[in-house]
Amino acid sequence: MTDNFRFHLIPASPTDLAAEALAGLRARPKRLPCKLFYDEAGLALFEAICATPEYDLCRNETALLRTQAASIADAVGRGACLVEPGAGGCEKVGLLLDALAPAAYAPLDIAGESLERAAQALAARRPGLRVTACAMDFLADLERIAPLLPDGRRVFFYPGSSIGNFTPEEAIALLARFRRLAGTDGGLLIGFDCKKHPGRISRAYNDEQGLTARFNLNLLGHANRLLDGNFDPGGFAHHAFYEPVEGRIEMHLVSLRDQTVRIAGDEISFPRGETLHTENSYKYLPGEFAALAGAAGWAPAGEWLAEEAAFAVQHFRAA
Ligand code: TRP
Repeated sequence: MTDNFRFHLIPASPTDLAAEALAGLRARPKRLPCKLFYDEAGLALFEAICATPEYDLCRNETALLRTQAASIADAVGRGACLVEPGAGGCEKVGLLLDALAPAAYAPLDIAGESLERAAQALAARRPGLRVTACAMDFLADLERIAPLLPDGRRVFFYPGSSIGNFTPEEAIALLARFRRLAGTDGGLLIGFDCKKHPGRISRAYNDEQGLTARFNLNLLGHANRLLDGNFDPGGFAHHAFYEPVEGRIEMHLVSLRDQTVRIAGDEISFPRGETLHTENSYKYLPGEFAALAGAAGWAPAGEWLAEEAAFAVQHFRAA
């Protein structure tokens, strides 16, 4: 056990999850909260998706962080307290640590077991870095980290195009929460996938090996476990497509037969062909995204683009 490691468990209330899930299942189109993707199996599947030839987001971002680390560090500034919502296995931050030399790192993730393992291993490898990991639903409870964070200028690190999984309105609201917690000297370093050929975008969510399909269907099993449900994943098909008007990938699970599912004490019927909308992944031009962040109180302060402007990393300071 190293003394530069702290682990906080901020438990989510199970009644909230049931209410949220049932509200989604009673809406049209039906939907389920996308945090249900991230159990241990979902995290492992997502890692495997990142290694597929079709899903180039991770590779584009990793290459940018690796090759531009020094320039990013010059823009962001050294010695900060880096806060990473949805840090998962804490891999991406490793590409920046040497150059960025933060004083502290606070990874937050809903998958608490893998977070604790990864954050503790990182703390052991970097005795000079204070690591404060929080197992939590950051969307529900972000503000609760304020008293737990180590000192230092707060810089939010939000890679992986996770911001694309919110609608633009939700994204502005989330970035504004980052902005309030980061304070007037705070920063934001964020990675997002960009608009490009629609065929290339949609291929990334329809890999040959079917890993994205398994990832999408895995949400049903996780919902079953957390909400006492009886979804049959074999009764649904993965369907993902790029919708250019909204500029987003839509992921759905389409019911393959008439069926009724018991979940969270209720019964929900799915006629054959009805869809359960599981996730969106919005794509932004670099300028569109800077405007969105601007609406949340962030001023542009650096940009790094992957080849063919397929992916962008942008840095902002409090406006
Ligand atoms: N944010 C990434 C993206 O939108 C990762 C991700 C979230 C994802 N949910 C996903 C990837 C579902 C594949 C399928 O691409």
